[in-house]
Amino acid sequence: MKAPPRLQSLIEEGLIDTVVRQLMSGKEAMVYVVRCGDETRCAKIYKEATQRSFRQAVDYTENRKVKNSRQARAMAKGTKFGRQAQEAAWQSAEVDALYRLAAAGVRVPTPYNFHDGVLLMELVTDEHGDAAPRLNDVLLTREQALAHHAMLIRQVVRMLCAGVVHGDLSEFNILLGHQDGVDGPVIIDLPQAIDAAGNNHAARMLLRDVDNLRHFFGRVAPELLASDYGLEIWDLYQRGALHVDTPLTGRFERRTAPVDMGSVLREIDDARAEDAARRVRMAAG
Ligand SMILES: Nc1ncnc2c1ncn2[C@@H]1O[C@H](COP(=O)(O)OP(=O)(O)O)[C@@H](O)[C@H]1O
Ligand SMILES: [Mg+2]
Repeated sequence: MKAPPRLQSLIEEGLIDTVVRQLMSGKEAMVYVVRCGDETRCAKIYKEATQRSFRQAVDYTENRKVKNSRQARAMAKGTKFGRQAQEAAWQSAEVDALYRLAAAGVRVPTPYNFHDGVLLMELVTDEHGDAAPRLNDVLLTREQALAHHAMLIRQVVRMLCAGVVHGDLSEFNILLGHQDGVDGPVIIDLPQAIDAAGNNHAARMLLRDVDNLRHFFGRVAPELLASDYGLEIWDLYQRGALHVDTPLTGRFERRTAPVDMGSVLREIDDARAEDAARRVRMAAG
């Protein structure tokens, strides 16, 4: 196909040879299948900041490191320079998270390059080499739901051990792919990823991510609905006792909660109420 203008400079730089086709366009980005030498990769072009929701920008960029105070002031004021800085921070957050998570052994696409607001990364594929489907597009058996859920909980733990909370984990941002010889979920779409240690919303975001998984897989495997992996994981993390292979039970006993869990639990109750309201709104159309 004819290359879209935003990929032109990557072609000129020799980072891309040809553009094959457009993949599904999401809320924040347009994604293309491209050829680079012998390899098929994927190019994610970020949409303009004005097409994204303001709330996310406020929530997720808290405590995100900015290069200097002029940039920080400009971002706070919302000047043109500030918006550009904010935009750059948003895009590079995904690149940073992908590098960090790939190095930590999390199943994410391998990042290759970030150039002119375009992220070049591994195309996640199925066992035939075709672009992998999203979890939302696949019918699952109960056994598959349980297996994918278990694998994703381990990925969430691995991410947290690397200091990252996804922040928008759902059936729309998980692909069922074949990676490193293993079939299973691959996690994508991380521009809102947050630093677990330095962000006041980290607990709430982690809980919401884990709740999304619980609700989604719970439709096919209802026994998951009673699980409480989120609280269990956050409690272990806070106590410095979370490791990539820490065994989990899926249960969390609120009665034995240490005192400092109080505020986290209140945040979580708020988040659950907010989430329930969101689900009602979504169901209403
Ligand atoms: N690395 C990838 N491999 C295969 N498909 C991808 C990849 N990255 C994104 N996609 C496809 O593009 C869609 C949009 O990408 P995503 O990163 O989720 O952006 P958005 O913020 O627009 O949702 C995804 O739902 C998925 O179908
Ligand atoms: Mg997405």
